[in-house]
Amino acid sequence: MRTILLGPPGAGKGTQASVIVNEFHVPHISTGDIFRYNIKQGTDLGKKAKIYMDQGLLVPDELVVAIVEDRLKQEDCKNGFLLDGFPRTVPQAEALDNALVKMDISLDRVINIEVDKDKLVRRAVGRRICKECGATYHLEFNPSSKGELCDQCGGKLYQREDDTEETVSKRIEVYLKETQPLIQYYQERDLLMVINGDQDIAIVSKEIVDALGRRS
Ligand code: AP5
Ligand code: ZN
Repeated sequence: MRTILLGPPGAGKGTQASVIVNEFHVPHISTGDIFRYNIKQGTDLGKKAKIYMDQGLLVPDELVVAIVEDRLKQEDCKNGFLLDGFPRTVPQAEALDNALVKMDISLDRVINIEVDKDKLVRRAVGRRICKECGATYHLEFNPSSKGELCDQCGGKLYQREDDTEETVSKRIEVYLKETQPLIQYYQERDLLMVINGDQDIAIVSKEIVDALGRRS
């Protein structure tokens, strides 16, 4: 399975990615997670990416594309992968197409998770993430039964630095301008499948798993 998860900030890409990778046993490649890891480690890449991420802007294509190309060549991607948050611009999508041609493989599906714009800010601002295992919660829509601690491992929950109302609004604006054109890009290639992300998390998961299962 070689799949892309597309959708605006807060649509539920990360939440659904963890379900998909468990079901289909493929690696989860999130460019946002890769950048956050690099920021935490204090690498040069992390330092460069942070400047853009803090403002809700996209990291320049050339930085992102090189990382994903390297990642796709790794052994664990041989039987498939799930891309989350990449591609985010038409040049990134074109670079991905070129890389896949060179590897003699192609995409199976692009899942677009749709959620009304006015709900996205509330979702992102209320998001909390476990420091230890990375599990994602929401103060209102998906709270941990242990309050400020993770249900699964007891780790402390934190809020992402770019999950302020101001930065999320900027990220949505950038999504509409830079990333939304990819919907048409993948529609034209007959790869797009739209999922209504404005339903219970479990229902969204079921619809995605069913859709991917039908195709493979
Ligand atoms: P990234 O980390 O990719 O963030 P994003 O795309 O803004 O997406 P989010 O992680 O905010 O949302 P999500 O869709 O994963 O939602 P989640 O499942 O967590 O990117 C961050 C930054 O990195 C970018 O701004 C950019 O600077 C840079 N970057 C990354 N990739 C790049 C690239 N390719 N090119 C250039 N720059 C790049 O859910 C959100 C909340 O809602 C959670 O609290 C969750 O519990 C809740 N929730 C989920 N589903 C539901 C539901 N069905 N009902 C109710 N609540 C729900
Ligand atoms: Zn945890």
